[in-house]
Amino acid sequence: MKISYGRQFIDSTDKKAVLNSLSGELITQGKSVLKFEKKLKNYFSCKYVAAVSSGTAAMHLVALALGWSKNDLILMSPITFLSTANIVDQLQAKLEFVDIDEHTYNICPNKLEKKIKLLKNKKLKAVVATDFAGLPCDWKRLKQLSKKYKFDLINDNCHAIGADIKKNKSYGTDYALASVHSYHPVKNITTGEGGAILSNNEKLISKIKKLRSHGVEKRGTKYPWFYDVNQPGFNYRITDFQSALGISQLKKLKIFLKKRRTIARYYFNFFKNKPYVKVPQKKFISGHAYHLFPLLINFKEIKLSKSKFFDYLKKKNIYLQVHYIPTYKFSYFNRKYKININDFPNSEIFYEQEVSLPIFYSLNQNHLKKICLSIEKIINKFKVK
Ligand SMILES: Cc1ncc(COP(=O)(O)O)c(C=O)c1O
Repeated sequence: MKISYGRQFIDSTDKKAVLNSLSGELITQGKSVLKFEKKLKNYFSCKYVAAVSSGTAAMHLVALALGWSKNDLILMSPITFLSTANIVDQLQAKLEFVDIDEHTYNICPNKLEKKIKLLKNKKLKAVVATDFAGLPCDWKRLKQLSKKYKFDLINDNCHAIGADIKKNKSYGTDYALASVHSYHPVKNITTGEGGAILSNNEKLISKIKKLRSHGVEKRGTKYPWFYDVNQPGFNYRITDFQSALGISQLKKLKIFLKKRRTIARYYFNFFKNKPYVKVPQKKFISGHAYHLFPLLINFKEIKLSKSKFFDYLKKKNIYLQVHYIPTYKFSYFNRKYKININDFPNSEIFYEQEVSLPIFYSLNQNHLKKICLSIEKIINKFKVK
């Protein structure tokens, strides 16, 4: 088996659920979408949910519903998937980055406050905080900052689906105005492509539900064929067969999380006292969703290039990844935004050293042993030179 950093797990109950749904009267905009939203609401203890076609669509809809536009400033960490930066840029809002915390790899609340204090005339509209790798951000502190400086707090929860702060209590919507999920195949549950917005704000979700379907509203109110549009939207709808898969996957989320945590423990035990490597912060293992296991390797010290390391493991059928190239390094953002890399010492070191180890449900002990021993072998081979 090709061992990549992540992959879906689909069993016969998932397949049956999708097939059943395909035999239904409506394969989109039917009952399964409503049922999926209800299940998400219950599982993540929030009041309102809109299921949509991807995590990117989910964040775009939040941005549209909150009216991000020209003079609005949006702050985020550069160590996240680039979709949010693309959305901010497409809406012509202003985008600025805040460095990560060196231990959690999430947005650093101290650096965030320092940055906010220096903003002067800029209108801070929102902070988007990603729970990187599945580790919840310092939400209490972020919430305090959002109250103090009056900005919207948005949770990119795509990595942390199922993480808890309090036992058996999901947290995203306790602190953030909206929490965004992705159900891409590498995520903790999948619908193929798909996503959702979770919130306790009824108005926000009701607006998002219109915007996910072109902005259409008041259907059939005046005449049977009638509908109206007040704000243009898009087709960001999820199908019923994807929702049926989502419902079936959600039933397995707890066992998926248990396995992810078991794999994380294996890596912790193997790498914790090894030279040249740094394991992620372990403090929150029971409340961590372990979408990723980011291992930091001091390539400079071992005099080994990251690409050689990747090639070596590829020959063993192990395909690692790097999460992420800091967004400000992409040509477009680097050209457009005034970036001073000295503002991002933690992101720079992180990018230099990070590799994402494989972590997904169907990995077994033999795979894990092979991964760990292969990494140890190549590090040993180079460090003696
Ligand atoms: C942190 C983060 N945010 C947003 C997204 C976008 O989700 P999607 O791929 O479903 O559009 C992803 C997915 O890769 C992600 O990892």
